[in-house]
Amino acid sequence: MSIHSNGYQSGFGNEFASEAVPGTLPVGRNSPQRVAHGLYAEQLTGTAFTAPRHANRRSWLYRIRPAAVHGRFAPLSQPAFHNDFGSGPVTPEQLRWNPLPLPEVPTDFVAGLFTMGGNGGPQAGTGVGIHLYAANRDMQGRFFYDADGELLIVPQLGRLHIETELGVLDVEPQEIAVVPRGVRFRVALADGTARGYVCENFGALLRLPDLGPIGSNGLANPRDFLAPQAAFEDVEGEFELIAKLQGHLWRAPIDHSPLDVVGWHGNYAPYRYDLRRFNTIGSISYDHPDPSIFLVLHSPSDTPGTSNMDFVIFPPRILAMRDTFRPPWFHRNVASEFMGLIHGAYDAKADGFVPGGCSLHNCMTGHGPDAATFEKASAADTRTPDYIEDTMAFMFETRAVIRPCAQALEAAHRQQDYPDCWRGLGKRFPG
Ligand SMILES: [Fe+2]
Repeated sequence: MSIHSNGYQSGFGNEFASEAVPGTLPVGRNSPQRVAHGLYAEQLTGTAFTAPRHANRRSWLYRIRPAAVHGRFAPLSQPAFHNDFGSGPVTPEQLRWNPLPLPEVPTDFVAGLFTMGGNGGPQAGTGVGIHLYAANRDMQGRFFYDADGELLIVPQLGRLHIETELGVLDVEPQEIAVVPRGVRFRVALADGTARGYVCENFGALLRLPDLGPIGSNGLANPRDFLAPQAAFEDVEGEFELIAKLQGHLWRAPIDHSPLDVVGWHGNYAPYRYDLRRFNTIGSISYDHPDPSIFLVLHSPSDTPGTSNMDFVIFPPRILAMRDTFRPPWFHRNVASEFMGLIHGAYDAKADGFVPGGCSLHNCMTGHGPDAATFEKASAADTRTPDYIEDTMAFMFETRAVIRPCAQALEAAHRQQDYPDCWRGLGKRFPG
């Protein structure tokens, strides 16, 4: 059972319109007395009704059955996937992990979610949950939606075939997918196994940043964001609808596929983006601009310029700055940084940070290049450029401290010796 992609529509937050059966979309109104082809009309809103026009997101779905049609919900226990970030002490230690091991028993995308930590929560409507996933089986006979936040999915291993109510997203490592809050979906694994990262955004919807003095082009270009064309299945059977609400999972029987939207229009939709299309900007004289130049998408907070969450990437780039220490320098930030490596090597670490791994440097925790990288970059000839070609790292950077949960701190794949990578940075003064 699979829905094939009907292709994509280009743009970010556009008023999209798509129908898998000609004549589905009504003209001149959203909810006519009788919808074409015997379909039901249903509105899906992702922002408050009265949100400003530029931020307002909603779509109209024309479907075989309304979303209300399903059995009764009962709690579903899946302890590794949650939003319980605790209230106890948070270690200021630098933290790093090896990749989440691939499962040894059949595990689908939802069952394979493993919560690393987060802040805020769905009740507060702010903050993020940060999860990893490792899966080796398609979602079979079950569908999922997250009422707590939109899901920013960052594949690291294996392609995902994400069938949503609004159409299909096929994504591979170095691409991302965003599934809006509430949108029902099913994930198949095109390569049999898959692993990656998920940011569950409880706050304002992800959007493209303003560009300020950069001008009208640059960073992630709107036309490279792709929303799906409508695609649906008309299938009946004994299925399961899994919902996440207020940090807990629920299951309900459903006697048909909820992926039954024949046509839709609006600006609240899933989308994908190829990180390799990012237009990377950097210094062509000396020093480093702040890493905000690598911002792909951000979830704003109520404080101007201070994001609930920034999604930042470190893509291939040319480092040409003269008389400059070219890797990221040592730093401490008010923001908290959860970092992952999708592909290749990261230029601030000689080893230990491998694709599929992750690190967490919380508010004001000192970090930066390890000792080996420091020695190498300090001696480098900066008259010629460095071509950083085989890499794709990213960061979920948040305003609030990211609280690692116990299963992350106690995980066997945590690198307990990570802070030792700076031990070789001895006294050099007076030089
Ligand atoms: Fe950092």
